[in-house]
Amino acid sequence: MPEAIGGYFELELRQGYSLYPHALGFNSARSALKALLSANGTLTLHLPHYICHAVPDAAQSVGAGLRRYALDPHLELTTLPTLDANEQLLYVNYFGLKDSYICNVLAPHYGERLIIDNSQGLFSPALAGIPTIYSPRKFVGVPDGGWLLNAPAGDWELPASQSSSHFDALLGRLEAAPEQHYAQFQRVETALAGAPVAAMSNSTRRVLDSLDYPSIMARRQSNLSVLAHALETHNRLDIVPTAPTAALCYPLLLSDCAHVRAIREQLLSERIFVPCYWQEVVNALHSPPMERQLATCLLPLPIDQRYDAKHMARLAERINTLLATS
Ligand SMILES: Cc1ncc(COP(=O)(O)O)c(C=O)c1O
Repeated sequence: MPEAIGGYFELELRQGYSLYPHALGFNSARSALKALLSANGTLTLHLPHYICHAVPDAAQSVGAGLRRYALDPHLELTTLPTLDANEQLLYVNYFGLKDSYICNVLAPHYGERLIIDNSQGLFSPALAGIPTIYSPRKFVGVPDGGWLLNAPAGDWELPASQSSSHFDALLGRLEAAPEQHYAQFQRVETALAGAPVAAMSNSTRRVLDSLDYPSIMARRQSNLSVLAHALETHNRLDIVPTAPTAALCYPLLLSDCAHVRAIREQLLSERIFVPCYWQEVVNALHSPPMERQLATCLLPLPIDQRYDAKHMARLAERINTLLATS
């Protein structure tokens, strides 16, 4: 078909640049992982107990067996398992805060047998030769999409996907309260969970390429350091690097789980939304105590680019007050 000239406008987006121009684009990070495991013929995937169910589900859906490993209090492996032929080890770059551990310990040890899940580390670049997946919608306003870097050589022809019908919740949040469109957001998440492996849609790619990544990173870095400074004395998790980091969130781990539940509910009543990573880890019989504690008692506080130092001060003040009064 010849290229159209004239007619009505598409949604107009700034021509920016791709954050990862050499990445393969998928409809989700799960799809990127499935395609990678299939291409590698991975028979067994070593993965943490502390992980979102989407990852083991994706691995099992392409026939990989699972072996779980435990984490220490710095969210690092307690022991490094030896991998047999056709085995790979997946590590989550937790909250985007584990770059040094990946670079200094895991990558030199496992090389291309390692898979880095940067779903929580959009701004952590992939290391040479290490397959790495990303899920940009955890960080920015797109409804779907995933990237895979350092894919093995092969035929990566993927069926196209379309996501214009996935934008309702994002557009809705521009015009109304988020609560009003939450059901639409969840519908898209459910649809993605059942979607076959496909390429990133053109609409998602165009939005991603229009974003102002340096200012997004700068805002996340400064918000993280405001919360780290204000709350570190309460935090039982000591993993925030000293270098500026454009993390996913500020992970605040408290010791009293009843306390955490009360704080989460109080914040919700004030329309401060704090997710749970991950309810399925709380429920799974195989979860070790530390992972269960993490899943129950961790408050991942928002630090994203929509907010500035004033928002962070309000958030820290609310947490400090709730901790002092309970
Ligand atoms: C650590 C982690 N990896 C991978 C995924 C899957 O990403 P996607 O929803 O883009 O498939 C998720 C969440 O869904 C996640 O939390």
